[in-house]
Amino acid sequence: MAIDILFKNGKIVTDSGIFKADVAVTGEKITAIAASIKPDPETTVIDCRSKLILPGAIDAHTHLAMPFGGTISSDDYETGTRSAACGGTTTVFDFILQDTGETFPDAIKRRDALAAPQAVVDYSFHLAVKDVHDKLLYTMEDAVKMGVPSFKVFMVYDFGVTDGVFYEVLEHSKSIGALIGVHAENNELVNYLSAKYAAEKKLSPWYHYLSRPEFVEGEADERAIHWAKATGAALYIVHLANAQGLRAVTKARDEGYPIFAETCPQYLNFTSDVYKRPDGRNFVCSPPIKGKASQKALWDGIARGDIATVATDHCPFLQKEKDWGKKDFRKIPNGCAGIENMYPYMLSEANKGHISYSKAVELCSTNVAKIFGLSHKKGAVEAGRDADIVVYDPLKRVTIKNKDMHGATDHTIWEGEYLRGYPVQTWSRGKLVAKDGKFLGQKGAGQFVACKPINLKTPDLRNL
Ligand code: URP
Ligand code: ZN
Ligand code: ZN
Repeated sequence: MAIDILFKNGKIVTDSGIFKADVAVTGEKITAIAASIKPDPETTVIDCRSKLILPGAIDAHTHLAMPFGGTISSDDYETGTRSAACGGTTTVFDFILQDTGETFPDAIKRRDALAAPQAVVDYSFHLAVKDVHDKLLYTMEDAVKMGVPSFKVFMVYDFGVTDGVFYEVLEHSKSIGALIGVHAENNELVNYLSAKYAAEKKLSPWYHYLSRPEFVEGEADERAIHWAKATGAALYIVHLANAQGLRAVTKARDEGYPIFAETCPQYLNFTSDVYKRPDGRNFVCSPPIKGKASQKALWDGIARGDIATVATDHCPFLQKEKDWGKKDFRKIPNGCAGIENMYPYMLSEANKGHISYSKAVELCSTNVAKIFGLSHKKGAVEAGRDADIVVYDPLKRVTIKNKDMHGATDHTIWEGEYLRGYPVQTWSRGKLVAKDGKFLGQKGAGQFVACKPINLKTPDLRNL
């Protein structure tokens, strides 16, 4: 089989180490990895001297074109995945919000009809559960068979579920190979505290943070873990941001329970002080960014392995929409952009010596593939997997500016952040989709990736 592309002289980063090797790609797949591979006459050779070769990141948490907060998040499947590609992310998981009364397969078909003609890199879905009455619960297994085995319940927002539904979904997940994710915050306390501050005319973005104090998330994490333990189901806690919840994760994991935690770059890089800034409303997301102690706990959790993944929770809104809440934090649509910044940021933290490159790859790619049943295709630079490859230049220096980003959003919370190193090439199934800050991909080239059912007995998950 002729080699189409040969990445030569680079160092490959895996979740367990770094080694010098060449990478051969034929068609859409990585076909060989060896110390020195000879090109064929027609092979395109990419010289990766002094560069790192990484698996494309898999963003486990995005909200593209999602109706939310009185509007629709400002990146659709085209602009969101274009932005992803330029930041080294080659697969995105998007959340489908089930409509009331809708079966899960219908929800997948409804959103895939939007995504398929637009996506520039590969994508998959999680299903956000709203309604499981009557027979709807049993359509979960049909979704698993369609390659969507992960579901999320919200404990907050007007579409959040009761503890009873959460418990029922957890119970049901075990027999059908599904994994349940949770947005954990205490809804009653959020409602009470928001109303209290509003009555006191305390309406600046700082009160978004104070109406969702650290324990509002911590208590809900503990409760969610409690239901997971009680049912014997696995649980994936999305966008974990607080120390108390992380302590509960650590304890449960030490006891042997399959609890997986995801955090986000915004929680690792910023603290709640951002809500005192004049542009504090732009940082409003839920759960809110927490204080210094929680931030430190998250980094410690990463070092210990109790945080399994880093994902963006990309849910951008335009400045004029964020401005709705200039005088009232309750009117700010919740969410921030980050899809183009996650991998560069985590790799920059590695470049600065805060974590290893292998840790960044593990958190942003390999573990995501393991948890969500994608290891047969994605998550590592390995023969047999898709040629989703990032060439990373550790010597490049970048100061993030929204005008250089490739999404549809007109501002970013990452403006002015300084990064050491940057992805300089992104390849998606053997096609170059981004190079030196330029998007080169094609609308509609991204494909839906079917995930395998979750099997806790596989070494992938047993050892995580
Ligand atoms: O503020 C956020 N996180 N917006 C997106 C929806 C969610 O809760 O994940
Ligand atoms: Zn959420
Ligand atoms: Zn989210």
